[in-house]
Amino acid sequence: MRKKRVAILISGRGSNMAALIEAARDPAYPAEIVGVLSNVAGAGGLERAARAGIATATLAQQTFAAKAEHEAAVTARLEAWGVEIVCLAGYMRLLSAAFVERWAGRLINIHPSLLPAFKGLDTHARALAAGAAEHGCTVHFVTAEMDGGPVIAQARIKVLGNDTPETLAARVLLEEHRLYPEALRLLAGDGAPYRPA
Ligand code: GAR
Repeated sequence: MRKKRVAILISGRGSNMAALIEAARDPAYPAEIVGVLSNVAGAGGLERAARAGIATATLAQQTFAAKAEHEAAVTARLEAWGVEIVCLAGYMRLLSAAFVERWAGRLINIHPSLLPAFKGLDTHARALAAGAAEHGCTVHFVTAEMDGGPVIAQARIKVLGNDTPETLAARVLLEEHRLYPEALRLLAGDGAPYRPA
């Protein structure tokens, strides 16, 4: 089996990144993590990735004149790593339609809600405010519509009567760490990548 070459894009602590790195240590896992790229200098996940022996890169958007130039640099780095699949893991910057099209069918994201519910930020507080009985996380293909691409996999949990945004976030995060490696396994293990219409 030839493992698919995967890069992870992060902006922060990188706990989902770490879950993917851990899963990919299994010789039977169909993907290898060849690089971690951050758009935020000093993101905690970078050091974690480096400790795991993975190549890292920082491309802080403030150092580029325009979004298109930043994204061109990101794509150049991904191409230099020979990347076939890109995983967004807490990458908190919207990507342009041009970037999304360049990686269509090979660019996936994890989002902390049961999409299409609660796109955007503060999902846990919003789920509580809405009185949702269930909450969870979604891995989906990235399209030009924010948090709107086809769903690959979801994990659900029950909302408890005494949940706060923090307790809910912590239980969802545990599910994220299980779901993301499973979703990447599905995508990487299947020969032809799915291409959304
Ligand atoms: C995760 O909960 C992820 O689902 C969320 O950011 C967190 C990153 O944590 N992503 C989004 O909200 C994207 N819209 P991590 O850096 O520990 O993986």
